[in-house]
Amino acid sequence: MRLFLDTANIDHIRHGVELGVISGVTTNPSLVSREGKVNYQQLVKEICSIVFPGPVSTEVLSQDAPGMIAEAREIAKWADNIVVKIPANLEGVKATSVLSKENIKVNFTLCFSLNQALLGAAAGATFISPFVGRLDDIGEDGMKVVLDIAQFLCYYQLSTQVIAASIRHPQHCIMAAKAGAHIATVPYRVLLQMIQHPLTDIGVKRFIQDWRTVMGEEKIVPTMKNSTLVRS
Ligand code: G3P
Repeated sequence: MRLFLDTANIDHIRHGVELGVISGVTTNPSLVSREGKVNYQQLVKEICSIVFPGPVSTEVLSQDAPGMIAEAREIAKWADNIVVKIPANLEGVKATSVLSKENIKVNFTLCFSLNQALLGAAAGATFISPFVGRLDDIGEDGMKVVLDIAQFLCYYQLSTQVIAASIRHPQHCIMAAKAGAHIATVPYRVLLQMIQHPLTDIGVKRFIQDWRTVMGEEKIVPTMKNSTLVRS
């Protein structure tokens, strides 16, 4: 399962890419608005250059198919790795069918059911984004929808990929991987939480203490500075 960052924050994206584990970004109007009033096109272009060639999803605001198509055609010119997010409704299906035939990549977003995903895939969407957390919020099983979509895409050997979205905590990432999601798009906070384990920190500290008990300040690589040693 690949990992995307679900954010429009440049510093967070730079850090994720620097770690070497982030291969794409998803944004939406709510995430962009968290960055304050920005030049949207400039921001998206910057994100595209940071994660290139990884895909960057950016959403249309129009609510009818002609408007979505017009917006998507313009957005698609901004960078080679742009993916246009189109909502999983009837107008969105119509727009996705047109855009996919023009080789404009679509992320079929705000998807909450297998039926919506079936139509998104039939319309030629590159990605389908079931929103796990928002389904959990209303007492449904968000990850079941991811599992159903992943099985359907696999069974029919379709090239459409499922992105587990609206991820809220590290357990969601584990469940998405087990469900067979191609991608999980995670908030930066969750990315940082994924690596945390107290036994790792305790283990690292103990290894250094044990080494120093016998070897003192001697280094494995003699030219290295003291600053790499954890002080007890
Ligand atoms: O990936 C979609 C995401 O941005 C929505 O997350 O937490 O607002 O449901 P959330």
